[in-house]
Amino acid sequence: MAMSLDKQCALVTGIGSGIGLETARRFAAMGARVVGVDRNEQKLKEAIRSLNPTGQPHVGLLKDLRLVDTARSVVPEALQVVGYLDIVVNAAGVCYFTKMEEISAEEFDEVMEVNVRALFFISVAAAESMKTPRGGHIINLGSNAGRKGRALSAHYAASKAAVKNITESLALAYGSRNVAVNTVCPGPTDTPMWEGNFRGLKAITGKDPKDFWETWKNQTPLGRIGTVADVANLICFLASEEGSFINGQEINVCGGFMLTS
Ligand SMILES: NC(=O)c1ccc[n+]([C@@H]2O[C@H](COP(=O)([O-])OP(=O)(O)OC[C@H]3O[C@@H](n4cnc5c(N)ncnc54)[C@H](O)[C@@H]3O)[C@@H](O)[C@H]2O)c1
Repeated sequence: MAMSLDKQCALVTGIGSGIGLETARRFAAMGARVVGVDRNEQKLKEAIRSLNPTGQPHVGLLKDLRLVDTARSVVPEALQVVGYLDIVVNAAGVCYFTKMEEISAEEFDEVMEVNVRALFFISVAAAESMKTPRGGHIINLGSNAGRKGRALSAHYAASKAAVKNITESLALAYGSRNVAVNTVCPGPTDTPMWEGNFRGLKAITGKDPKDFWETWKNQTPLGRIGTVADVANLICFLASEEGSFINGQEINVCGGFMLTS
């Protein structure tokens, strides 16, 4: 039987672009009602408009997750609209490639505020709202970068290592409510995030984006760069009934890139 999210409500942060957008589209196609969060108004509107109608309207919340009070307001506002959250995907994230000694306090803080602090408060509020036996699924975006240090994005790598740890703590704390919490770790995945990443990498190394893609492709045993569909496939499985006994795990979706990078 095809995986279904019929009658489920899903909150997806970072819905304006890349992995969050693809995930929301897939959720909607599987029958879920989606509440999407992003700080970019135009992308948020376009994303919500692009979801398949399922009978119930999908909802967009314009939020800048750098701000802690704003991050804390997401789940209560979502619950006011949809009543219950079955699934939360924390896909909002920022990444910078900057030499270690040139990372500013502001850049460091932004990475931690969005990738770690907002994810933490949204996950806790969502898990608190989930009740046995219905429970729920929380899926956090980590990264291959969180599993090893990275010389040119040390703050980003640290933030993703924190995501792994927070996921495990949540899994321990909320398992008794039937809440499963997992981290999905993509390798290099072709999304708009790389426009900014490549600017940073070019400034440091002088290399063109295609040189990086080529190197990473060659480093990947399966011989290609990841797509948003590759990552959304795993997220959809973890969010579905079929994936419901997977809990507290950090799962790579990278074609084997982790083995060689
Ligand atoms: N693309 C990759 O290669 C890759 C690899 C590993 C992990 N990831 C992770 O996957 C997640 C999604 O990445 P992506 O590649 O789809 O990125 P993306 O840049 O395409 O999308 C991220 C979205 O998050 C939103 N966002 C950023 N800061 C925000 C804030 N302060 N408040 C609200 N929204 C905010 C952006 O507006 C954007 O719509 C991120 O957590 C990223 O770290 C991506």
